[in-house]
Amino acid sequence: TAAQKGGYDFFMQKEIYDQPEALHNTIMPRIHNGHADFSADNISDDIFKGVNRVIVTACGTAWHAGLVGRHLIEAMIRIPVTVELASEFRYMNPILDEHTLVVVITQSGETADSLAALRLANERGAKTISIVNVKGSSIARESDYVLYTHAGPEIAVASTKAFSVQCAGMYLIALKLAEVNNLMTDEQMKDFCDKFEQAIGTVEEVLKMDDYIKGISEKIKDTFSAFYLGRGLDYGIACEACLKLKEISYVNAEAYCAGELKHGTISLITEGVPIIAIATQENVLPKLMANVEEVKARGAHVIVVTDKDMSNYEGIYDDLIQVPATDDLFATFASTVALQLLAYHVTVFRGYDVDQPRNLAKSVTVE
Ligand code: G6P
Repeated sequence: TAAQKGGYDFFMQKEIYDQPEALHNTIMPRIHNGHADFSADNISDDIFKGVNRVIVTACGTAWHAGLVGRHLIEAMIRIPVTVELASEFRYMNPILDEHTLVVVITQSGETADSLAALRLANERGAKTISIVNVKGSSIARESDYVLYTHAGPEIAVASTKAFSVQCAGMYLIALKLAEVNNLMTDEQMKDFCDKFEQAIGTVEEVLKMDDYIKGISEKIKDTFSAFYLGRGLDYGIACEACLKLKEISYVNAEAYCAGELKHGTISLITEGVPIIAIATQENVLPKLMANVEEVKARGAHVIVVTDKDMSNYEGIYDDLIQVPATDDLFATFASTVALQLLAYHVTVFRGYDVDQPRNLAKSVTVE
């Protein structure tokens, strides 16, 4: 396995570094001249036609990719999206019809709850498309169409590159929905494709910050708990970043929509508790930073991850992870990778086996 790790200490570390290539392989074959092109995937445009509602269903990390996708689709093309945990969806008697597009996201394609959710959607006459990494898996075979992510095999239990390409899959579906239903102009679609391609470069830039992020990780390595804050798109990123930290480092971590803090969690903020605030969304930046100021005043160790100019907020944070500036809707990729590195390094400092966290399985094929 040392050879398989390609010189990295852990599979997770290698897989974090695989991300520019995984994103490139997933995105670039599907965007041409400012359009989403799924012809090589044999996905018919018909499935996107007349869709008036999208339901994303998934488990774990893949569910977080759904949260990101929801924000993107609703902000950009105004089609209502709900994101359901597959384990809930399958028992909630969902309202589905032929205008509903159900998107199942899964790395393995074998998660029992996600497969059951897909079968229910098929039975109830929804259109189904899955975003799957493992070729020929059950969910890939049973959905109407499959948009494969090209991350290559993911071995570490904690998902990293699969998440990034699952998000990319949602961006591709958003673009296709826009195109087929005339929800964006040619110019807007061209601009989207340019920014999408540039997002891959932002990930490369973040990987160069590895040592810097390692330094910040060392400062928080002994903490018992940590809190991740975000609003809008950043909330989905916060949830995923939080899951990374807790599943491998065993830090008791929670993700919050920043505005909810004052409704309870703020009572848990004590001297030195790490607060990781993701701050890439301009429209809520002052609001988010006001929330952060509240926890800073109670002694939290504040780490801000942002692509924005933070000079107005000096003194409100202890550490700054400044990722390359992008359009707000494309900040997903850079901030995600920065926070994967943080979780990775905290865990290495704590001395745990990054790739084999206790009690967890890579793929959960029982209910
Ligand atoms: C397990 C894995 C997670 C994963 C989830 C869903 O819990 O440990 O990393 O997100 O299953 O898996 P899937 O293969 O459906 O994406």
